[in-house]
Amino acid sequence: MRRFYNLKTFAIALVAIVGCGFVVAFSQAQPADTEEPQYTAAGELRLPGGIDKWIFVGSNRGLSYKPDAPAMTAAEMRRADAPNFHNVYITPRAYNYFLANKTFPDKTMLAMQVYESADKEPKQVLATGSFNGEHVGLEMAVKNMNRPDGSKTPWAYYNFSGANGLKPSAKAFEDGQCENCHKIHASLDHVWVQFYPVLRDPK
Ligand code: HEC
Repeated sequence: MRRFYNLKTFAIALVAIVGCGFVVAFSQAQPADTEEPQYTAAGELRLPGGIDKWIFVGSNRGLSYKPDAPAMTAAEMRRADAPNFHNVYITPRAYNYFLANKTFPDKTMLAMQVYESADKEPKQVLATGSFNGEHVGLEMAVKNMNRPDGSKTPWAYYNFSGANGLKPSAKAFEDGQCENCHKIHASLDHVWVQFYPVLRDPK
């Protein structure tokens, strides 16, 4: 009996220890939910957690950008050609500020979740149309008047998409690769408000 009791105590302790280990490992792997951009020591933007809980501003499918748009790299052209869904989110604090002031505050973060456009599913119930298929990437736009990477351009652009899922941090692109086109063609302070109904025409 005593021996059984000891075994039971041992088993419970073991389950508790392994359980704690999982909790610690899991919480370390999860990026922090934050509305303020966080950076690595090298000035790379850390992948924020909880993006899907931010304010959803719009979804565009298969937008392609004109080839004469400035500084279009081959990779950009490819990205633009794929008929993916671009689901765009903004941090709630920046959204509330935007509604009141019609400008984007310092530390605004916008996230573009990229999904393949799919039209086939196993039950074959769909006749026409397309839905959000595989998640294939995440790009971010961040406004920061004091960027830790030393650049004086407030808006910085990042791509977290990697071959094996999202990268834990990303380096800002050169202005010519991303910022220029946003600055020249987006309708309000680098953001494509013209394509996001929730910002363009708030209800
Ligand atoms: C030739 C023009 C052009 C270039 C260059 C460009 N973008 Fe954009 N970007 C757009 C357009 C148009 C949208 C509107 C939303 C969409 O594509 O669905 C957009 C939207 C975005 C958004 C959503 C938030 C926002 O600002 O409206 C992010 C994030 C983004 N782009 C990241 C990037 C990154 C990273 C690069 C550089 C690698 C880049 N963009 C280069 C045209 C451009």
